[in-house]
Amino acid sequence: MDGNGRWAQKQGLPRIAGHEAGVQCIQGILETLAPKGVKFVTLYAFSTENWGRPQEEVDGIMDVFSEAVASQTQALHEKNVRIVHVGKTENLNPDLREAVAEAQRLTRNNTGITLNVAFDYGGRAEILEAVRRIIKDGLDPDVIDEELFSRYLFTAHCPDPDLIIRTGGEQRISNFLLWQSAYSEIYHTPTLWPDLGADELEEVLVSFSLRRRRYGGLNPEDQSPEDQAPEARAPQK
Ligand code: IPE
Ligand code: MG
Repeated sequence: MDGNGRWAQKQGLPRIAGHEAGVQCIQGILETLAPKGVKFVTLYAFSTENWGRPQEEVDGIMDVFSEAVASQTQALHEKNVRIVHVGKTENLNPDLREAVAEAQRLTRNNTGITLNVAFDYGGRAEILEAVRRIIKDGLDPDVIDEELFSRYLFTAHCPDPDLIIRTGGEQRISNFLLWQSAYSEIYHTPTLWPDLGADELEEVLVSFSLRRRRYGGLNPEDQSPEDQAPEARAPQK
């Protein structure tokens, strides 16, 4: 959800107004994506590194997030959205931790979009935590495969992302879903997060649908006849 601060500054507003605008657009985005068949959406709202911002901004973001959980959970529940927090809980203040837990409990049997909220999330921290838990569980190294490892991540309940949209013009991953994004398609846009609207999202989905995903392999049409085994080639006249 990058670009909130710049969005506010462009309008002569304090950065926190951008974070407020950034949470206001969540429901519109889900309403655009749900009819397209999207089943999982992960919002990267606050990274483990974002604690390093000025204390005033961190406090402001915590207030905005608390307020969003309080005011939006019921509406999301009525839209059949399942809310899942992805990230660490220890550093959240106890009220927020409890509100997030309650939002998860309330919506856990919903069958519409799963909304993962990555808050105090970092990909490296997540991988290390998975390693620690695997060791604590005393697993035999020979049984640890990619499938098992994925089940130790915060995202154990969902598939790897097909598409990652990075707003705000930066062209980097910034510690987001490092393990899970191995074969994700990536879309960069200079649009600031609060300005990401239905029209652009629909364009993004069209562009995604035209991509050819090979997962390191080759599509049959990428091979020339010379690459094929002689017996598979059409007989020469
Ligand atoms: C992203 O917006 C939201 C959070 C990191 C919480 P930024 O705050 O990074 O906005 P810009 O990049 O300064 O515009
Ligand atoms: Mg930023």
